[in-house]
Amino acid sequence: MTNPQYAQTAFIDHTTPTDNDVTVIPVFADDHFGKKGKAINKELGEFLSLNAAFAADFKGEAGKSIALALPKGSSYGKVILLGMGAADQINAGAVNKIATGLSQTLARLNIKSASIIGDQCAKMTQNADEVYAAIAAQICENGYSFDKYKKKLKAEKAPESPKLDFIVKNPKVAQQHFDALSILSEGKMLAQDLGNEPPNVLYPESYALRIKDLLEPLGVEVDIIDVHGMKHLGMHAALAVGESAGAKPCMVVMKYDGRSDADKAKNPNKRPLGYVGKGLTIDTGGYNIKTRSMDLMKLDMCGSASVVGAMYTLAKQQSKANIVSVVGLAENRISESSYLPGAIIDSMAGFTIEIGNTDAEGRLVLADAITYLKQAYNPHIIVDVATLTGACIQAHGHDKAGLFTNSKGLVKAFTRAAEQSGEAIAHDPIEEKHIRAMDGKLADLTNSCKTTDPEIQKAGHITAAAFLQHFAEHGGKTKWAHVDIAGTAIPPSGMASGWGVKLLTSFANDQAEEKAAKPKAPKL
Ligand code: BES
Ligand code: MN
Ligand code: ZN
Repeated sequence: MTNPQYAQTAFIDHTTPTDNDVTVIPVFADDHFGKKGKAINKELGEFLSLNAAFAADFKGEAGKSIALALPKGSSYGKVILLGMGAADQINAGAVNKIATGLSQTLARLNIKSASIIGDQCAKMTQNADEVYAAIAAQICENGYSFDKYKKKLKAEKAPESPKLDFIVKNPKVAQQHFDALSILSEGKMLAQDLGNEPPNVLYPESYALRIKDLLEPLGVEVDIIDVHGMKHLGMHAALAVGESAGAKPCMVVMKYDGRSDADKAKNPNKRPLGYVGKGLTIDTGGYNIKTRSMDLMKLDMCGSASVVGAMYTLAKQQSKANIVSVVGLAENRISESSYLPGAIIDSMAGFTIEIGNTDAEGRLVLADAITYLKQAYNPHIIVDVATLTGACIQAHGHDKAGLFTNSKGLVKAFTRAAEQSGEAIAHDPIEEKHIRAMDGKLADLTNSCKTTDPEIQKAGHITAAAFLQHFAEHGGKTKWAHVDIAGTAIPPSGMASGWGVKLLTSFANDQAEEKAAKPKAPKL
């Protein structure tokens, strides 16, 4: 990961002189300035408000902006009016828009340095220092690039990061908040880095070692279950997918317990939270070979990457969470011993599974990972994250992940975590018809239903979830949620987004605080 934007970002107060190219002045929704904006506008003889009024499509919407050149002799030179949206609604989603809008505008105008006036107005519900820290952190995130394999063209292509001075009331508070958010960004960029690695570099074994290297120094216990161990445990579903491939599959178990010693002593048998991630380092489809965009399927490990990124963040934050995660790492490839369409395989839970389609491999790996997590650690909640279905992209696009669960409480808890993290979800209920659709003809279950019902055909994301639910509920129901990140983790650009790290971190911290039921203003 490279991100020079961090070194270019500072928080200062108005007494520190700057010599920057532009001044960025926030404008709140319905076209009004904050305190400082008003004063500057007055000083400039209403120049800003008059010009803003002429820009018919600018009303201070979050992320929109207009650039103005001031008359000669003015002390401000160039000004950018930056839309903040409604002052009482500056949540994580709005911050994202504001930051992205600003970085795009600065890049478009080729601006090398800017002073951002950390303005506030009476209606603002969040602390202004924290709002501008969050905007700064998001701009830094947007500056992420993955150029480790660009050897010759690197120097010519590297875009310059603009120098950004945020002029705020309390630079110390802003800096502290920025540093805290930077830990989250680091976890997210780590997930992006893992996703962007090519499949000839990142394959199950090398990935597992990398997880060890990343997490063990932070106090996370990391164990690798190799093929031998998987056989011993009866993980025949995951093995069917991965065993025949070039690289051998494995499962990686990560344990982090941030509770105080007193807490641990008081509650020695407290059940942990459990995360599971799909880690297909390449998904060719197998014998049901993919006919398009196969190269993108090196990103089919993004679920596991968000789990690893969240574990990294939680450990770095010294979170109070008690959490066990399992990622199932495998390649879905063709070889002479690859699993066959129509095969009937076994699973660790004991369900037999008919292979309707070798390209529905993620659920097979997840099924055994969920079973293992349940049997070995008995978590009170299991959340699995996976780039599981194309149907989820059809249904929800690239801005929202699909949420599927057997618990109403988890819908609430995830709605809250989504609001806090700015990572949006859409909940799709699993109905009896979806569960029935996954009944096998010759075996207990099928991994890909054959149906003529157009409603079920369209609901491939929900039937996939229904398949997983069997495993989450086998041997006693566990509260479980499945997050399908096929669209959000893999944007149209084909670069890993790191989606899920923030959601999983928020959710785990909420659970640790046991305040999930008490609503409060979302944090930034
Ligand atoms: N990894 C894919 C899903 C996917 C597709 C993610 C495109 C991101 C972008 C998954 O393994 C898959 O191939 N799913 C099939 C399931 C089908 C065969 C039942 C799909 O969605 O087509
Ligand atoms: Mn597939
Ligand atoms: Zn896949």
